[in-house]
Amino acid sequence: MKIAVPREIRAGETRVALDPESCKKLIQLGMEVAVETGAGNAASFTDRAYQDAGATLVADAASLFASAAFVLKVNAPQARPDGTHEADLLKPGTMLLASIFPTRNLDAVQRMAGRNITAFSTDCIPRTTRAQAMDTLSSQANIVGYKGVLLGALELPKYYPMFMTAAGTTLPAKVFVIGAGVAGLQAIATAKRLGASVTATDVRPEVKEQIESVGGKYVGIDLKQGASAGGGYAAELSAEDKALQAKMLAEHCATVDVVITTALIGGVFAPKLLDEAIVTSMKPGSVIIDLGADGGGNCTLSKLGETVIVNGVKIVAPLNLPATVPTHASMLFARNLLNFMTAFWDKEARRFNLDWADDILKGCAVTHEGKVIHGPTLKALDQTQGGKA
Ligand code: NAI
Repeated sequence: MKIAVPREIRAGETRVALDPESCKKLIQLGMEVAVETGAGNAASFTDRAYQDAGATLVADAASLFASAAFVLKVNAPQARPDGTHEADLLKPGTMLLASIFPTRNLDAVQRMAGRNITAFSTDCIPRTTRAQAMDTLSSQANIVGYKGVLLGALELPKYYPMFMTAAGTTLPAKVFVIGAGVAGLQAIATAKRLGASVTATDVRPEVKEQIESVGGKYVGIDLKQGASAGGGYAAELSAEDKALQAKMLAEHCATVDVVITTALIGGVFAPKLLDEAIVTSMKPGSVIIDLGADGGGNCTLSKLGETVIVNGVKIVAPLNLPATVPTHASMLFARNLLNFMTAFWDKEARRFNLDWADDILKGCAVTHEGKVIHGPTLKALDQTQGGKA
């Protein structure tokens, strides 16, 4: 089976779907791998390293896509600078595995359905123990949490740690993390390691212990309704609980130096938690790092991908932070893909086993046999385009 790894063309993307190490492992399993020339350059993986791993290099993206039985990508297929679309370069019947975020990329999904592509999205993989090693949401969210804290340290006009010097003592910065999932817990641990005093909140009550286990102090509210939606996902709060949370956030944000927001609903959409009133109550010089930016932002004043200053408060809303740590982001992403491919690879027959009885495969399949088959994506299509899927 021929695997193709194209160069990512999304603006600002530096990751690649397969690093040379995972490439070698796929080849050892009996697959053939073709990599677009220069695909790993921005992540510091040279063409030579892929060749040494046993891959062939292909200079032309169109022939690479057209020759593949299975395409591995980081992002959903994109429009190309020459006016064509990556999805239209795939030959009918091709399989594709990528972090598609199908509800955010409906055009690409519809194009793939139209081309009879069988597409799997790693961000839709069910959250089971068996699937953990394939979960790109977690591997990339870890990077987001880590890098978000570093951005906060760069923007804050203070130290994070306490320093006792001959000139006097500086107190540790107060960092408040909102949303303590994978990114949030990594943010707490990283801020703690850098010497900050860290508080954190979440709406899933089971998270309190996890916050404490990585060195944070939990601040929370007693919600009137449960907010766990299963699989680690949160549900949207009721109006009454939103008001309770807003009051707590207003009080707490006014006392801290850095607010790091990581809240998502269903792993996709960022609830608006910080409004103008909360921002203007914060101390001048304080910083908000809105890590919900890829999902639309947790702060109503965030400008996605930009930094703004409101009343002396700096609001940073970075997009695609994993792309700022491309070597490790690609290495871990590639291992997630390798684990997926290995789980469904029939070594004897040397083919990918489309086992529709398997919960992982079924859960993350987005398009197959000319149709969109992923429930939430069908719902999103229905809402935006009157159900033309
Ligand atoms: P996520 O990215 O969907 O959400 C981030 C965090 O925001 C969550 O902790 C959520 O509860 C929180 N949140 C949502 N609305 C909020 C609000 N209004 N205020 C404050 N916080 C809010 O979640 P993530 O980080 O992908 O995963 C959460 C948990 O799921 C993990 O801690 C883990 O326990 C579990 N998980 C399990 C996996 C598996 O078993 N394969 C894979 C990935 C995660």
